[in-house]
Amino acid sequence: MTAQVGHIDGQTQLVGILGYPVAHSLSPEMHNAAFAELGMNWRYVPLLVRPEQLAAALRGVLALGFRGVNLTVPHKVTCIPLLDSVTEAVTIAGAVNTIRIDGSSGRMEGLNTDMSGFLTDLAANRISIGETSRVVILGAGGAARAVGAGLARSGAHITFVNRTAERGAQIADFLRSSWASSKIESAGMDQLAEVSREASLVVNTTPVGMYPSVDASPWPNGVPFPKDAVLYDTVYRPLQTKLMRDAERSGLRAVGGVGMLVYQGASAFEMWTGKKPPIEVMRAICQKRLMEA
Ligand SMILES: NC(=O)c1ccc[n+]([C@@H]2O[C@H](COP(=O)([O-])OP(=O)(O)OC[C@H]3O[C@@H](n4cnc5c(N)ncnc54)[C@H](OP(=O)(O)O)[C@@H]3O)[C@@H](O)[C@H]2O)c1
Repeated sequence: MTAQVGHIDGQTQLVGILGYPVAHSLSPEMHNAAFAELGMNWRYVPLLVRPEQLAAALRGVLALGFRGVNLTVPHKVTCIPLLDSVTEAVTIAGAVNTIRIDGSSGRMEGLNTDMSGFLTDLAANRISIGETSRVVILGAGGAARAVGAGLARSGAHITFVNRTAERGAQIADFLRSSWASSKIESAGMDQLAEVSREASLVVNTTPVGMYPSVDASPWPNGVPFPKDAVLYDTVYRPLQTKLMRDAERSGLRAVGGVGMLVYQGASAFEMWTGKKPPIEVMRAICQKRLMEA
């Protein structure tokens, strides 16, 4: 395949993603397709940044006039002390996935668009969560915090179930105190059957089942899926995970994480450019690449 090189000149605006690794990221193609669709002279570049080089890399993108960057593993938490300010979403989720750079003042603001990306995709899939809903979140890392913090506002009963029970308890404690809610709890994997029985939504935020371990599932054998629940897997590579297939076989509706990816990207796009992102173009390129993979 021959790569197409578009017009780049002295007016070209730059954004990108800092990660280690970063080559697998779909964000460059997603954003560059959006810029091309809107005829914008912007480019999005992947930047491989070792953990110990993060501070230098952030000074670098500022010096080079970047308008913003995304952050992926392992920089989402370690970047926070290096920024000038963070939004409330970052304080609640404890992680940054997007930085907006103010070119005139040189200020860097940390944002978290994973949370809004997840909530927008729930709404797009007509999944409504309210005070009577029971939600089980598998995992207790950065994605779990974003998902849990996003759902906490709904007043739903939320239980974090994590391999390392202590980490689940820490997130539940933090969100319970942030939202003054007594309905946010944690449980060990051995309690999954009990706490998920009445669930209306199960969200997988662990990487289990992600390429290349496509035959793995975070749902233990022998634990029945809840009846009438929706299963949301934040993993998007592959588009259909083993967890989604197993859940569907048990009669659940299953939704994969590509929509969350697209909406978190769309939100970052809007923050940087001030323009409405072409969501369907962004979704189409992600789906195409994931289907080819
Ligand atoms: N769709 C999207 O836009 C989007 C956005 C963000 C993340 N994600 C997905 O979310 C995943 C997790 O991201 P993250 O940033 O939250 O990662 P993270 O901070 O490293 O947290 C990973 C969590 O998964 C658990 N876990 C890892 N391996 C496990 C295993 N083999 N068995 C059981 N539990 C395991 C960990 O448990 P311990 O606490 O016991 O270590 C931890 O709670 C990513 O891989 C990605 O697929 C998707």
